[in-house]
Amino acid sequence: MPHPSANDITQGPLPRISHGRGVYLWDVEGRKYIDGSGGPAVFSIGHGDPRVNAAVAAQMERVAYAYRYLFTTDSLEEMSEIITQATGLAEMVYTTSGSEAVESAVKIALQYHFDRGEPRRVQFVGRKRSWHGNTLMATALSGFEERQRAFAGAFRAVGRVSAANAYRLPSGVSREGLVAHLAAELEAEIQRLGPETVAGFIFEPVVGAAGGALPAPEGYGRAVAEVCRRHGVLVICDEVMCGSGRTGVWRASEDDGIMPDIITVAKSLSGGYLPLGAAVYTQEIADVMAAGHGGPLTGHTYTGHTACLAAGVAVQRIVQEEGLLARIRDKGPRWQAELRARLAHLPEVGDVRGRGYFIGVEMVADPETKAPFAAALGLNGRIRAEGLRRGLICYPSGGHVDGAAGDTVILAPPFNATDAELDEIADKLVAVLEAVLAGLPKA
Ligand SMILES: Cc1ncc(COP(=O)(O)O)c(C=O)c1O
Repeated sequence: MPHPSANDITQGPLPRISHGRGVYLWDVEGRKYIDGSGGPAVFSIGHGDPRVNAAVAAQMERVAYAYRYLFTTDSLEEMSEIITQATGLAEMVYTTSGSEAVESAVKIALQYHFDRGEPRRVQFVGRKRSWHGNTLMATALSGFEERQRAFAGAFRAVGRVSAANAYRLPSGVSREGLVAHLAAELEAEIQRLGPETVAGFIFEPVVGAAGGALPAPEGYGRAVAEVCRRHGVLVICDEVMCGSGRTGVWRASEDDGIMPDIITVAKSLSGGYLPLGAAVYTQEIADVMAAGHGGPLTGHTYTGHTACLAAGVAVQRIVQEEGLLARIRDKGPRWQAELRARLAHLPEVGDVRGRGYFIGVEMVADPETKAPFAAALGLNGRIRAEGLRRGLICYPSGGHVDGAAGDTVILAPPFNATDAELDEIADKLVAVLEAVLAGLPKA
């Protein structure tokens, strides 16, 4: 009998995992699962890599943890150098989760404005249909009603603008007019709050759980960054899910043609081996904070945890040595096109989109109107359960259209998955969606 706390609240007992190797996991009954989403887009080089395990073990043997504010370590310096090479930014606060990275970004933005002599800049703007994490401020910044409702009374107010969704255009807005419309909306929201009170604007270059791997349209990043710069508002890119290489470039915002002031990363950074995240920021911000307070006033006990950094270094070395980002840039667009073609016979597949190995499939009840399935059908839960039954781990979620209805499935395979493994993920997803759609109650 599983411990009661091990049950999923909607699905009941979950498979008990025994071990993982590469793109596969096995449960204690011997059932094999192909990990098509790296859990929630975490496992960038797959499971059980002996090189990472050996690096972590060696670090643990020497010292598990040297307190960041007393010591430096090889793994801290190596990881920092890797991030600097990848982003061009040399300043970062390490965390052990994406939520803490976002929370750190918020505090860095606040401190920067304070130390510059603008202490009134304390407001943030976030987008609808976004997810920034589980701490109170990260949840408040998010636009994900079903994850927010229970806590909303405790939130501080956050400015809100539309998602950048080229599949679901705001009414009266054309595809060509979308970017200008969204930039004007951000301008209006900053004006409404009072530009001199706004500290930062946060967005995911490719929206994860809240949007189903929904990429910002061409030109969006440059347009919103221009609005922010004009008002002294910091641009914060939340790359916790889409960053650290998942889209085929290390910094997801590179494809948007912008350099943010602050970038948050986690997930693929250490690929699930040990928890690691970071808020990475510009020299300008670092200099202001250094002059004001001697440095950032944010950090945790486990900031820069030595063994976690050793895991991150080992993962990042494998990504570099095996040329995995080039592999994603080459294979990603072809794989996405293949998936689109293989799902074309299902009219309920409304959209297949994404960047690199971060692909979203959006389901619709009516392909003409793009009307979502009723939330009560629980389509995303059915897809998850059918996936597990057929040995596919994917990442379905719901509420994308109105906070309750709207189902998507994210695929986010390991960067080093073989062509055959990517084919298997695609085969299984097609079979899962066919089975779930065939089994839906008739209207
Ligand atoms: C874009 C984004 N930001 C922040 C977070 C929070 O990260 P964590 O769950 O590691 O705290 C997530 C988690 O899914 C995320 O997708």
